[in-house]
Amino acid sequence: MTPKNYISLVSKLEQTQDLSNEEFASLLEADSSSFAEELARRARAVREKYYGKDVYIRGLIEFTNYCRNNCYYCGIRRDNGRAQRYRLTHEEILACCAAGYQLGFRTFVLQGGEDAYYTDDRLTELIRAIKKSHPDCAVTLSVGERERDSYEKLFEAGADRYLLRHETADKAHYESLHPAELSHEHRLQCLRDLKAIGYQVGCGMMTGSPGQTTEHLIKDLRLLQELQPEMVGIGPFIPQHDTPLASCQAGTAGLTLKLLSIIRLLLPQVLLPATTALGTIDPQGREKGLLAGANVLMPNLSPVTVRRKYALYDNKICMGEEAAECIRCLSKRVAAAGYHLVKDRGDHPGFKEIFTSS
Ligand code: 5AD
Ligand code: FES
Repeated sequence: MTPKNYISLVSKLEQTQDLSNEEFASLLEADSSSFAEELARRARAVREKYYGKDVYIRGLIEFTNYCRNNCYYCGIRRDNGRAQRYRLTHEEILACCAAGYQLGFRTFVLQGGEDAYYTDDRLTELIRAIKKSHPDCAVTLSVGERERDSYEKLFEAGADRYLLRHETADKAHYESLHPAELSHEHRLQCLRDLKAIGYQVGCGMMTGSPGQTTEHLIKDLRLLQELQPEMVGIGPFIPQHDTPLASCQAGTAGLTLKLLSIIRLLLPQVLLPATTALGTIDPQGREKGLLAGANVLMPNLSPVTVRRKYALYDNKICMGEEAAECIRCLSKRVAAAGYHLVKDRGDHPGFKEIFTSS
């Protein structure tokens, strides 16, 4: 394909939010830096149409690394006997939120492994306490697969959003990354339940995960079109040394950036983070992510004492920096990219009215 043809595909995607499988494949496989730059430029323009130069921040609290699952790629998998397990106390979590609030955070993301200690009662108590202290903040949960009635209770307790990456939309590929006890159908059912309940929902995939093909990525894009999530979290796969996939190759920043831009054009108003994994694989990854259409950053609010223990993958950045240092560092990085951090809940535009009218 000529450069001109690629550009016309980007225009078509921008105008119709759709392409044929063959056209998506051409974009995904295009190996030209001038094309990648043009794709990023278009995605940036769409992002700026809806969000201007604003970058939303989410305070990530990695509150437990106990996990009953055994995903082949993940460093906190059940069978990793070398992972030092921890669970923050209720008071420690509230202290992270209070410190985050002072720094300007208006969204807290409670992320953890699938930890049986966190029953519905314990989680609802935690959500209520955060909402009571910070009624102007959004609470996002990222605690994996649960049953619908559990998701309903957490929503009633005040949780606003839920992140559950689908990891890959292809069943066989999913099965190659997870043991048989995890089911692709259940993962997708969870996402549909979360949507139906009324959460702002985030799904997403790792880029360059072992065995991933262009066909798989096209299925991922089709799933995004079908589910219409409010948020999409993507980042490169990065091997973790104590997992079965330790010797596999990492995904690349290039493919991740290209997908960020495609997703921005596919779902123009989506909340799209430039992830820590992207910043890990490339020192300028998060800035490049913003310039490719991302509009969210998720700095870590967890106490520095536990940071290293939440080692999903190797060489994760920001391990030693206190939240205040990360915010200072990020403000500079974001400014250098021509954007600015905002003190805002950062809801999806489709949900904004609900909160401003009440
Ligand atoms: N590399 C990159 N991302 C990973 N995740 C888990 N393990 C890895 C890894 N080795 C991602 C998964 C999960 C999210 C919390 O972190 O996509 O959903
Ligand atoms: Fe954490 Fe730069 S963002 S140190």
